[in-house]
Amino acid sequence: MRIALAAALVLASALPAAAEDGKALFNAQCRSCHTTTAANSPAGPGLKGVAGRKIAGSPGFAYSPGLKAKGGTWTDASLDAYLANPAGFAPGTRMFARVAQPAARSAIIAYLKTQP
Ligand code: HEC
Repeated sequence: MRIALAAALVLASALPAAAEDGKALFNAQCRSCHTTTAANSPAGPGLKGVAGRKIAGSPGFAYSPGLKAKGGTWTDASLDAYLANPAGFAPGTRMFARVAQPAARSAIIAYLKTQP
């Protein structure tokens, strides 16, 4: 009995539902340019721990002057604004990918928060 319950808990301990959706969205729409590790690629900065991190703060990535000029840290609100309209949030940013649907943005942000 105990063992079966423990096994069920292990199976259920995957990501929460929103983060699970966010992971699939991230894999489809973001992973071509971003890792969720500290590793930058030429196409985009590594996003490990991006929630709460300094804006334009991945060491060694050549950010645009526009994003560097923003200052501050990434919060739920600033991540949401950037993903909705990157150039509106940070004029001159080199990221053009947008996520139009609010629910998709919050799922992606929930997923990013599971990658500290
Ligand atoms: C075609 C490549 C590309 C795609 C696709 C892309 N990005 Fe980006 N992303 C970039 C680049 C390049 C930057 C740096 C922008 C700059 O310097 O202005 C960036 C920056 C970011 C930042 C700021 C990181 C920091 O260190 O301040 C976040 C957050 C981000 N992207 C999230 C996402 C998410 C989430 C997706 C998927 C919905 C996504 N990106 C899709 C290229 C991409």
